[in-house]
Amino acid sequence: MSNETRICSIHARRVWDSRGRPTLEAEVALSGGAVGRAMVPAGASKGAREALELRDGGASFGGLDVRRAVANVNGEIARAAIGLAADEQVALDELLIALDGTSKRERLGANALLAVSMAAAHAAAAAQGIPLYRYLGGDGATLLPMPQIQIFGGGAHAGRRVDIQDFMVVCPGAGNFAQALEWTAEVYRHAGELMAERGARLGVADEGGWWPAFDTNEDALDALVAAIERAGLVPGEQVAIALDVAASEFGHGGRYTLGLERRQLDSDGLIELLLRWCEKFPIASIEDPLAEDDGAAFARFTAAVGHRVQVVGDDFLVSSAELVAAAAAAGAANTVLLKPNQRGTLTETLRCWEAARALGFAGIVSARSGETEDDTIVHLAIGWQVGQLKVGSFARSERMAKWNEALRIEERLGERGRFAGAGVFGRNAT
Ligand code: PGA
Ligand code: ZN
Repeated sequence: MSNETRICSIHARRVWDSRGRPTLEAEVALSGGAVGRAMVPAGASKGAREALELRDGGASFGGLDVRRAVANVNGEIARAAIGLAADEQVALDELLIALDGTSKRERLGANALLAVSMAAAHAAAAAQGIPLYRYLGGDGATLLPMPQIQIFGGGAHAGRRVDIQDFMVVCPGAGNFAQALEWTAEVYRHAGELMAERGARLGVADEGGWWPAFDTNEDALDALVAAIERAGLVPGEQVAIALDVAASEFGHGGRYTLGLERRQLDSDGLIELLLRWCEKFPIASIEDPLAEDDGAAFARFTAAVGHRVQVVGDDFLVSSAELVAAAAAAGAANTVLLKPNQRGTLTETLRCWEAARALGFAGIVSARSGETEDDTIVHLAIGWQVGQLKVGSFARSERMAKWNEALRIEERLGERGRFAGAGVFGRNAT
């Protein structure tokens, strides 16, 4: 270990996220003078098996204050981690995990752990004078991700105005990352105009997608196709649809309640509905089509469409290497969503991705619905060569900060950069 990368101070403070709620920022300073900083995001539609985000409870800020997590970083974690090498990420993360001592990180909080884990990586990259993606991935970090970008919000991010949580687009026909953003910008703009014409442009949902003022879930799909066409793009070829059903939010025990359409479905009824949508609409990717407790139905759905549609596990897999291995064995899902705060350290998140990739799964690095201007996940997507990135819509700066950072990296990579393209989507092995 070079003395330059020894952690000499760790400091956390309370900052505010995109929903105006408290979150943590940590700064890690190294003996050579380099400093790294990172902020932690927060989900709204969380998986039951995610690591715990430590909140204070009580009256202030709806119980969401993070003073205890901040104190854990500034006290116990700082005492234990000062003196370690920031460029020995695995050793640092193992220490954080052992220090917490619980399987769900509920003693110190996954938010406290992740702020330090990410800030240390930034500091180590800064010490070498290179961008984080390059520190993580070396010369091989040249794969620009396929963006999944929300056009209409929904579910828990829009007062449950519609059941489906994310109506997104992907751009399988785009030649590079910048062009995918250009196409998405046009689709987003035309979708807004379309809503305005209907007298239904009522602002945006939590992640910046247009507010889903629709009579049925299928209405939103029709509007999305119309917006793609109005943008002068070919649905399915140039621009396709990606959905996050987030089914754990409206179903468990094999019973699903579509609030908007006032009907109940069992697992096979929901599968049938989604398969119908896959026939009727140019859908390339579906996330959490079934609830986190409905693994057998997840496998039936994957067997039915996984050869041509990407089937993504978010709440179902919670970025866990063990859950991915079990899902792969059962034939459930073919792609894992990677959210570092579902685990609490970069090392565990990377282990999940490595396990998933070895099993033939695709991956998507994802933001949370509560975000900040922190752009670490862009560097993870590129540094770890994951190939796909999901950060919400094409509006609001906590989202745009990520897209813009990826643009900078694409420009910097120049000729060496490769755009993931349509081949990146998860597909069942045949
Ligand atoms: P969350 O939603 O951050 O509110 O959990 C994002 C997602 O479900 O992908
Ligand atoms: Zn999700």
